[in-house]
Amino acid sequence: VNLYGEARRNARGVDLTDTAHLRWLHEGMEAADRREWHAGPTVSGQVRSGDAKPVHSPADHGREVGRVTWATEEDVERALARASAAAADWDATPGERRAACLERYAELLEEEMPTLIALCCREAGKHIPDGVAEVREAVDFCRYYAAQSRREFNGPVTLPGPTGERNTLSLHGRGVFVCISPWNFPLAIFTGQVAAALVAGNAVIAKPAEQTSLIGQYAVQLMHRAGIPQEVLHLLPGDGPTVGGPLVRDPRVNGVAFTGSVPTARLINRQLAEREGPIIPFIAETGGQNAMIVDSSALLEQVTADVLKSSFQSAGQRCSALRVLYVQTDVADELLEMLTGAMAELRIGDPWRLSTDVTPVIDDDARRMLLEHCEHMQREAKLLYRCPDPEAAEAGTFVAPHAFELQSLKQLPEEKFGPILHVIRFRARDLDRVIDEINGTGFGLTFGIHSRIDRTVNHVVSRMKVGNAYANRNMIGAVVGVHPFGGEGLSGTGPKAGGPHYLYRFATERALSIDT
Ligand code: SER
Repeated sequence: VNLYGEARRNARGVDLTDTAHLRWLHEGMEAADRREWHAGPTVSGQVRSGDAKPVHSPADHGREVGRVTWATEEDVERALARASAAAADWDATPGERRAACLERYAELLEEEMPTLIALCCREAGKHIPDGVAEVREAVDFCRYYAAQSRREFNGPVTLPGPTGERNTLSLHGRGVFVCISPWNFPLAIFTGQVAAALVAGNAVIAKPAEQTSLIGQYAVQLMHRAGIPQEVLHLLPGDGPTVGGPLVRDPRVNGVAFTGSVPTARLINRQLAEREGPIIPFIAETGGQNAMIVDSSALLEQVTADVLKSSFQSAGQRCSALRVLYVQTDVADELLEMLTGAMAELRIGDPWRLSTDVTPVIDDDARRMLLEHCEHMQREAKLLYRCPDPEAAEAGTFVAPHAFELQSLKQLPEEKFGPILHVIRFRARDLDRVIDEINGTGFGLTFGIHSRIDRTVNHVVSRMKVGNAYANRNMIGAVVGVHPFGGEGLSGTGPKAGGPHYLYRFATERALSIDT
């Protein structure tokens, strides 16, 4: 039982060094690979299937992973009508029952792990360890929010008051929540948003990222199997203008949870400000210009391993990923030699192969944008290292990891979402200027520091305006309930996913005072 009174264990995952586990995983993945996958607008459990477009794997454009039917205006209207009709009954369902559905879904996720990993590999280009992490995080979100809702969403609490008065406070769902999730965590973030909204008593309309509808579809199927009523959870695959915009603007919607880019978060904010109907919460998790500072006391072997993982795991496509490495000049040459040497060992390629370190980026647009950035950097900055392209690079959307040395952060005005590391040297006496420069980006998601001097760590961390700071370790892979995750400023509104305050934002509070 931890600080918050919860008796809960994080998911166990799979031992990728155990041959029996690996056999189970591979057999399940191969079976999933032979299935015909389809996603479509799913309203009250009915999946519409006409006019489906093929989905191709980022690792191999020649491979069709499945087909997706995108939602139309009529699907949006049907989902809104059904969800708003079902919301009150779901909110009146005992919190205990809603929590039990999430826990059953978590069990199904663990049972279905090989299938889910196969889908993550094929549709999102994730490698197997990242696929395992997706499933684990999704399981953790469910168990964490279920445990909290059992404690806090299961009936009113009695408050003090004068004799003759009975006062209570209770938490309720707000009505219909729209959950708009990203492709970079197509199962974990999708599940986290939807699970939180459901367990707090809301009906949900989920819009998965356009690139990862198949994973969203399978997750919704499992949630329905776990007992979430079909009238309460609907799925609308599709694009922003046809699905996201009309949903957000509709006055029947009582809350929006979104993870994605800053421009889209601003667009949703504007749409919410201008619409008729209730004023509603908007939970946005966006990007970061995440930095790490390494001083001369740092253990450089450890820094090398942590930078590699933070910058290049998941092809640098995590919101938490390291983008800008500040290295104290005294150790810069030594560290850069170790780092570029280690980059040369990275294996870029097929996500299905267990030995792969760096996977493809999500699609052609992402690849084009990153390659243009690299060309620009070759002119504006110094190329430190570029990993060789994998064999058959053109078959998919591979981007070789790059490291560039910059003179100043001004050369990098935006977040670049991929396996590109930027390095800047600094002198010890300029440490405070570096802190101001990082805070000056306006982003505030993750930050890392490597220093063996406690005073330096405390000084830097206390001034850094970020949601998640990590000292002397890598800066990705936040664990539910252990590293509540989310930023500030341009990085998002909070509250933190997988933290003790997240569920409240999905709920409304009602106080009742009775003169007895
Ligand atoms: N939660 C993820 C991580 O910590 C990022 O989105 O890596």
